[in-house]
Amino acid sequence: MSESLDLAALPADFTWGTATSAYQIEGAVTEDGRAPSIWDTFSHTPGKVANDDHGDVACDHYHRWPEDIGLMKRLGADAYRMSVAWPRVMPAGDGPVNAAGLDFYDRLVDALLDAGITPNITLYHWDLPQALQDRGGWTVRDTAEHLADYASAVAGRLGDRVTRWATLNEPLCSGWIGHLEGRMAPGLTDLTAAVHASYHLLLAHGLATRAIRAAAPEARVGLVTNHSTVEAASSRPEDIAAAVRMDGHTNRWWLDPVYGRGFPADMRELYGVELPERSGDLDAIAAPLDWHGLNYYFPATVTDDPQGPVPYAREVRLPDVPRTGMDWQIDAGGLESLLLRLTDDYGVRELYVTENGSAFPDTVSPDGAVHDPARARYLEQHVSACVRAVRKGAPLAGYYAWSLLDNFEWAYGYDKRFGLVHVDYATQARTVKTSGLRYAEIIRAHRESHA
Ligand code: IFM
Repeated sequence: MSESLDLAALPADFTWGTATSAYQIEGAVTEDGRAPSIWDTFSHTPGKVANDDHGDVACDHYHRWPEDIGLMKRLGADAYRMSVAWPRVMPAGDGPVNAAGLDFYDRLVDALLDAGITPNITLYHWDLPQALQDRGGWTVRDTAEHLADYASAVAGRLGDRVTRWATLNEPLCSGWIGHLEGRMAPGLTDLTAAVHASYHLLLAHGLATRAIRAAAPEARVGLVTNHSTVEAASSRPEDIAAAVRMDGHTNRWWLDPVYGRGFPADMRELYGVELPERSGDLDAIAAPLDWHGLNYYFPATVTDDPQGPVPYAREVRLPDVPRTGMDWQIDAGGLESLLLRLTDDYGVRELYVTENGSAFPDTVSPDGAVHDPARARYLEQHVSACVRAVRKGAPLAGYYAWSLLDNFEWAYGYDKRFGLVHVDYATQARTVKTSGLRYAEIIRAHRESHA
């Protein structure tokens, strides 16, 4: 092995998984009663996505899922984090359930279980039914209530076999990138809309948590959030204050209310937007969770930017640091710190890394293999950070690599490849990359360390 990892330090029942999301891999966007989502609309709006790519076919997982389960088995993964497409199950966003949509996930879940792979289902990974966007989307309260109804329908159907559930994936991206920065669907750049969307997303999380538990009493419900460590670019007081604001924007805004602290006062003041609060909401948002999922990719270093957009803190591009093909800084220490922060500061008692991975421009070599040593190295460094966090007391119970397959990377289209498995989009041929083989080795070595 290229890096020696003390895998025995991870618990014997540590979960090793891969992750994907519905819009990024499924394709089949008009099949079996699926209606458009905001990502169909956004990606079909010229200029919004690199090369005007869209998810119409993606990895054609809707038809090729048996092969994809075979790939998971080849990696030796014991769990699979996937999302359910709301517009397949409830095409109008509310109202009648589309039985054919649920049937697809029913078959998938059965096949995963037959293969010895535990499904971990995320209900909302950004594909809001367009019909709900037309009625205000996340800026209105009704959408939170509709998410709970949809969650109840899915958990009611699959909850006899699926116990691991997440309500939302990365509400920060839906809230800030989708409504403030405009780089993701629905593509708004409006602070009031963004703050209201963030509120309703967290409310939706709380209401859906309740709905899942009511529909599936065995369910273990969690939330998946993405975070970065934030450092000030200098010791200037202005930069230190900027780092506090960026930390509030990226981390505290999304964690404090979920862990019973309410929305952070400094950020409320900074945004200057009245929250659409009703009595009981904060209790719903802070419903105790069974687990927390951390998605980690990169750290942030910021400087004061009084003329810039909220939160008036601009990311500084550090020279001479390793970076992925996304131009994201590689810093596995950030993963360790965030795992410990969730443990020590927020009191999380069961933690998962629900996404972590890297994009690099891979190609299939003449020998038919995809040699991606940089991704293998990234994986090793981050697994090693998990080991360090566990040694320091983090209750880390699993790691899901992003991603099983190269897939539709949102506004970057198909140019950015995050998979452990390469996808040739012209032929849909799948090739396990050397990083995938390395992941399989890590999983095996961990199991052997506890044999
Ligand atoms: O592809 C995304 C995923 O959908 C959410 N988390 C980050 C990944 C890489 O950008």
